[in-house]
Amino acid sequence: MESDTLRKHRILVLGANGQLGREFAHIGPSYEYCHFHFAAKSQVNIHDTSSLSAIMEEIKPDYVINCAAYTAVDKAESEADLCFETNAYACRSICEAVKTSGSRLVHFSSDYVYHSYNGFPLMETAPTEPRGVYARSKLEGEKIIRESGVPALILRTSWVVSSFGHNFVKTMLRLGREKSTLNVVSDQYGTPTYARHLATAVMDILLLTESEADKAELFNETYNYSPEGIISWYDLASTIMELAGLDCKVMPIPTSAYPTPAVRPHWSVMSKKKIRQSFDLETGHWRTGIRQCLEDLRAGD
Ligand SMILES: NC(=O)c1ccc[n+]([C@@H]2O[C@H](COP(=O)([O-])OP(=O)(O)OC[C@H]3O[C@@H](n4cnc5c(N)ncnc54)[C@H](OP(=O)(O)O)[C@@H]3O)[C@@H](O)[C@H]2O)c1
Repeated sequence: MESDTLRKHRILVLGANGQLGREFAHIGPSYEYCHFHFAAKSQVNIHDTSSLSAIMEEIKPDYVINCAAYTAVDKAESEADLCFETNAYACRSICEAVKTSGSRLVHFSSDYVYHSYNGFPLMETAPTEPRGVYARSKLEGEKIIRESGVPALILRTSWVVSSFGHNFVKTMLRLGREKSTLNVVSDQYGTPTYARHLATAVMDILLLTESEADKAELFNETYNYSPEGIISWYDLASTIMELAGLDCKVMPIPTSAYPTPAVRPHWSVMSKKKIRQSFDLETGHWRTGIRQCLEDLRAGD
């Protein structure tokens, strides 16, 4: 029989086919002390409590990393039930399953929960004023998890990009090849997060809270996670064109010139002090992540 200390950590990743889920699959093999199981929506639909229970029974995970989410921010305005079912109410079933199996949960939330501006990077204690269905569903998911009492690390992240799935970087690369000019919103500020760096940060936190007893209680908290730096979508688009060597001129426009069904926060700049200090974590600079993302895209990773 394997001893507790020698046993590999079992990690179940839900929503494994999304951009973040696929980043966990990409970095997984470098963590020899972990045994990952990746469950895409086709294997485990988080609305379905029986398939959740079955996978928990089969894998007996030490950690459940919930990458499953409804992320179509604009579509959510006309699909509120599905959005809330996925981002909020399914968290209840996940927490039940986590509680029954005695495992711990890692969950991702969003800068959208804040929607406030005080001129400074938003701390985790800043007021939450979610606007729009997606934003409200993400905050409700956080509340359900906290009320469940399960040990849960909740990471609020922003502007996630990856070499996998659909995201702003890939859209800009496509449009940059097709068009000579492009209008991009210049009055929404935030920080792009490379999903591979986020996945790596999660693994660093799991390792640290497992190996250092005095850090264990820090797991059960809510943290902001994005790199350093403050830019607009216009700045990001310009940087992508420059780094990719694309001859497409990016023009700044106000949000009012690009109306969308869901209202976006103008200020998505989050303070990372809490996560940096709690876990001695380097959050790096957004430019490093974007450069890395473009390199990984070129390499086909
Ligand atoms: N993307 C961003 O800019 C951003 C910003 C802030 C926070 N976040 C948060 O970060 C987390 C990861 O986001 P992401 O960018 O990786 O999202 P993503 O690429 O949209 O991936 C989400 C995954 O969840 C799956 N899913 C949807 N409904 C499901 C269900 N009922 N059961 C099981 N799986 C289901 C999706 O499958 P299908 O595609 O087949 O539906 C998809 O594979 C999410 O919690 C998101 O809210 C993202």
